[in-house]
Amino acid sequence: MRALSQLKSLLSPELLRRAQRPRALGQAAFSRLHGLGHIVRSPFGRSTRVKAPTLTLDGECRAGRVYLVGAGSGDVELLTLKAARLLQQAEAVVYDRLVGDDVLALIPAGHERYYVGKARGHHSVPQAEIGALLVKLAREGKSVVRLKGGDPGVFGRMGEELAALAEAGVEAEIVPGITAASAAAAGMGIPLTDRAHAQQLRFVTAQLCRKDGEPDWAELARQDETLIFYMGLTKVEAICAGLRRNGLPDDWPIMLVANASLPEQASLVGSLADMPEKLAASPLPSPCLIVVGSVVRMVATSPAAAQSARAEISPPR
Ligand SMILES: C[S@@+](CC[C@H](N)C(=O)[O-])C[C@H]1O[C@@H](n2cnc3c(N)ncnc32)[C@H](O)[C@@H]1O
Repeated sequence: MRALSQLKSLLSPELLRRAQRPRALGQAAFSRLHGLGHIVRSPFGRSTRVKAPTLTLDGECRAGRVYLVGAGSGDVELLTLKAARLLQQAEAVVYDRLVGDDVLALIPAGHERYYVGKARGHHSVPQAEIGALLVKLAREGKSVVRLKGGDPGVFGRMGEELAALAEAGVEAEIVPGITAASAAAAGMGIPLTDRAHAQQLRFVTAQLCRKDGEPDWAELARQDETLIFYMGLTKVEAICAGLRRNGLPDDWPIMLVANASLPEQASLVGSLADMPEKLAASPLPSPCLIVVGSVVRMVATSPAAAQSARAEISPPR
């Protein structure tokens, strides 16, 4: 009771008048004291759900401009507010495979949408055709969202689309998104860098698209950094072997996270020596991200990881 009267003294008379029930008064008081959060903790140790303020998503979406927008890693709540607004405003949306249904559900009925991802058993739409489609839609005077999984600037071939738009004189704007590396680390309850573990962070495509077909393993086999391999599910054995051959110890930590941020997130945690065998015994689906580095050791003790019942955790030694 004393706590409640102390809180009442902090409220304006108007807020007090609007509080019709004691419970409503408590909620209003706590949201005023703590800022407008979704959940605030009462002095009595209970969590209280507070109705979030309504967000007004207001801003321009220009005709004839192409917005290259990151859709985030799957969970619709990881979409930026700007991405959500543009999806609702744009007259045409061009999207690919790793964009979730919940995100697509934000596109109003009747707005044009074009799927340019890989169909089952088929190749993706060639990059030149995607560029031509974006140019065509913009030249028709439409506002266009080019929606890509994660962050459009991380292994998303955004550079080629920017070049096509620049060549055609079409205006473009980039809206970043949450990349799979951030979502996977968060989903497993660990940071990507840490003063005690990794002073560097490197994003690598596992598609070995360099001319000689091999990454520079000697350069990658370092103990002071976190290595993130995108598109590497079929390359786990090669990655583990390459890093071990170049000096990383057999028990060096590695983690695989599939469908990061989605309800079906699944993971394997192990070492460079045992991961190929673990993956063969418990195959993971695509999309899957590979994290190598001593930050992975933090999964074992992370309170955020413990909340994830889906994580299959067998910490490396
Ligand atoms: C073509 S890259 C696109 C990356 C994307 N632009 C990003 O920033 O996350 C596709 C790869 O990203 C990774 N990926 C994307 N979404 C993922 C998710 N939800 N969980 C795990 N890995 C994901 C996988 O390695 C997949 O093969």
